[in-house]
Order: sequence, then C-alpha cells, then structure tokens
Amino acid sequence: MTTVGILGGTGPAGRGVAIRLASAGHNVVLGSRDEARAAEVAATLQARGTGVVSGASNEDAANCDLVVVATPFDSAIATVRSLKDALANKIVISMVNALAREGKELVPLYPPRGSMAAQIAFALPESTIVGAFHHLPASDMENLDSELDADVVIFSDDAVARDDVAALVNEMPGLTAVVAGSMSLASAIEAFTAVCISINIRHKAHSYVKLAGLQH
Ligand SMILES: NC(=O)c1ccc[n+]([C@@H]2O[C@H](COP(=O)([O-])OP(=O)(O)OC[C@H]3O[C@@H](n4cnc5c(N)ncnc54)[C@H](OP(=O)(O)O)[C@@H]3O)[C@@H](O)[C@H]2O)c1
Repeated sequence: MTTVGILGGTGPAGRGVAIRLASAGHNVVLGSRDEARAAEVAATLQARGTGVVSGASNEDAANCDLVVVATPFDSAIATVRSLKDALANKIVISMVNALAREGKELVPLYPPRGSMAAQIAFALPESTIVGAFHHLPASDMENLDSELDADVVIFSDDAVARDDVAALVNEMPGLTAVVAGSMSLASAIEAFTAVCISINIRHKAHSYVKLAGLQH
C-alpha cells in the first residue's frame, strides 16, 4: 500500500486519480491551498476499495510516499517549487497539460523546456519526474461506473520509476499502463491531450486513448 499525495487534488483530475487509487487499496491525501475545502471534497469521494481518501494541505500531500501534480499548468511550477524539499528523493508524477482554448478547440502551449514535465523536472532537480494520466477524461475517471478502459501513457528518464508508476497504474480499475519511453516524448504526449479534448468537444464524446496492437 502506497500513500499518494495529490497537489491540487480537489480538482476533477485529482479526484479522478484519487478515487481509482483508493479503489486499488492505496491511501490518498488530496492536497489543497485550503485544508477545509480538501476535507470536504475528500468526504464526497466514494471509493469502493479499501484505501482512504483524506483532505489536507498541499504541504501534507507533498510529504506522502509518492506525489501527483494536478494543478493548472500556470500554477504548477510555483506550487512544486514551494514544496521542493518535501518532494526531494521521491517520484513526482506530472499529469499537467499546458493548453489554451481557441474557439471549439484546445491547442497545446509549449513551455520553454518543451513540456510541463520538463519544467517540473527543472524546478525539482532532486526528484524523479514521471509523466502519466495526461489523456484521461476526469469525469469518467471519477465515475467508477463509467466502464472506462483506458491506456495510460507513461514516460520518464528513470526506467525504474517508470516501471513503478506503471505497476501502480495497472492496479487502478479501468486503466492499463503503456510505457512510452523517456522525457524526450513529454512534449508530444502532453500536446496530444489537446487533440483528445478537441475530438471530444467536436464529437460531443467522452473518448479516451486505447492503443491497438499491444500485448499486455
Ligand atoms: N480535467 C481533466 O480531465 C484532466 C485530465 C488529465 C490531466 N489534467 C491536467 O490536470 C491538471 C488539473 O486539472 P483540473 O481540471 O483538475 O484543474 P482545476 O480544477 O482547474 O485545478 C485543480 C486544482 O488546482 C488548485 N489550484 C487552482 N489554481 C491554483 C493556483 N493558482 N495555485 C495552486 N493551486 C491551484 C485548486 O485546488 P485548491 O483550490 O483546493 O487549492 C484546484 O481544485 C491540469 O494541469 C490538467 O491539464 C486534467
């Protein structure tokens, strides 16, 4: 059992990851700028497994065994930088996408280092950064009855951390880990989220990524 902290865990993305981790038996700390709000949100999540979801500060979430960054992209760097010491020597998962809305489409934004994962890696030189969960529709993640059967594309420069996160993802109901490779792929993987969301807007759908031809 791993205790996972989620920075910005009160949003749809964090809640979706939290409920599926808890369903797999892991304890989750939803981090927030407002502990009372986090406790309220945590109380609304009904996991079916044995894991407990609690609400706390982002500082408390950063002290967990493994930490997920689930804030909006424009506050992710300030958030992780302020928690740098607590995040040192542990795996930090980035699910952050830098996107902008243009009419009916989402378009990718490119941070100076090419991706949000690379920006976070630069801000946290003593942490091990892994990218995951970028393409998942939060509403389906949070709804355990949604029959979600999605692939989770994972990347990192650290092969052991990549495999550790893949193992964790494979425990989460409805998700299958697909290790893509190194941080060099981060920009393309994050940008593809804009394609996924634009497709869903155009087709009024809740599609998600499921890669054909892989043998799990
Ligand atoms: N939504 C999705 O379907 C989805 C799917 C995959 C990946 N993602 C990515 O996951 C991240 C979160 O998405 P989301 O839709 O959950 O976002 P969100 O609801 O806009 O924000 C998530 C949480 O971040 C905190 N937050 C907001 N502004 C902040 C600030 N200025 N400084 C620090 N914390 C702040 C808030 O928590 P408190 O007010 O409680 O602090 C908020 O509940 C994004 O980077 C997104 O690209 C989203």
